Amino acid sequence: MPGFPQTVVLSDTYRKPADFLAELFAIYESNQEAWSHQSSEAWILYFQYNASNLMKQYWNHSYRLSKEELECISSSIQQFQLGESSDGSSLLQRAKTHARKYDDPAYVKAIELFIREEQRHGSHLARFMIQQSIPLLKKHWLDGIFRVLRKLAGLEVAARVLLTAEIIAIPYYSALSESTDAPLLQNICMQILRDETYHLVFQACTLGKICAKRTTLLNRTAHALHKFLMAITIPTVWMGHRKSLSRGGYDFAKFKKESLAILNVLNQIENLVAKSKQH
Ligand SMILES: [Fe+2]
Ligand SMILES: [Fe+2]
Repeated sequence: MPGFPQTVVLSDTYRKPADFLAELFAIYESNQEAWSHQSSEAWILYFQYNASNLMKQYWNHSYRLSKEELECISSSIQQFQLGESSDGSSLLQRAKTHARKYDDPAYVKAIELFIREEQRHGSHLARFMIQQSIPLLKKHWLDGIFRVLRKLAGLEVAARVLLTAEIIAIPYYSALSESTDAPLLQNICMQILRDETYHLVFQACTLGKICAKRTTLLNRTAHALHKFLMAITIPTVWMGHRKSLSRGGYDFAKFKKESLAILNVLNQIENLVAKSKQH
């Protein structure tokens, strides 16, 4: 894959959920230069490569969720499945405007491939839920708020709201995979975690390019607002998904600490990209 950083290793073996956090740090630390110059064309290559190297899923596995598992994860998985299933049309609209403004036509294709990955997450979870007779949700108030927030302004707000949800997704899917003995659900979580790790870097790169064209004061304000959004989201998600998160080994302190640690790394990637684009 010409021009693609060698840090990308798409493992299809089982990894402990905490490894995904370590992977994110490793992406940042091992090849900062390469990632800071990552172009939309390189992201297209990554998404295409990823799509043709998916982990094997055990669709025919006979495991049935126990009563306790169903009790702890059903309503939680329903909400996350809904969140993964957006059609992405408003994001795509914003991406087209962004691509024109930054003279980066390849960005539109990269976003299309990104949306396709999110939809795959939604459809994999839906397929699992149907097998386990868990009904699919059509709407939920929290998902509704995120959708409204994403439509409020330009690409930056959309990307920061999306990034907030994707940060939360790392501890969430880690907990979900630990909270069940279902091999299929564990593997779906592993695939989602693997994808989301790179989604986070993808969004941070986009935000870094936006930051490069602005004053330091405006960028600091954007980061402060983002932190504020995280500060509201963390307890809200904890309250709504406490059962599955606790079953997966999280308490509130661990959930909050991991989420903020991810935000911190992403801010560093963002700043690095912004700096490299200013020169
Ligand atoms: Fe996703
Ligand atoms: Fe994602």
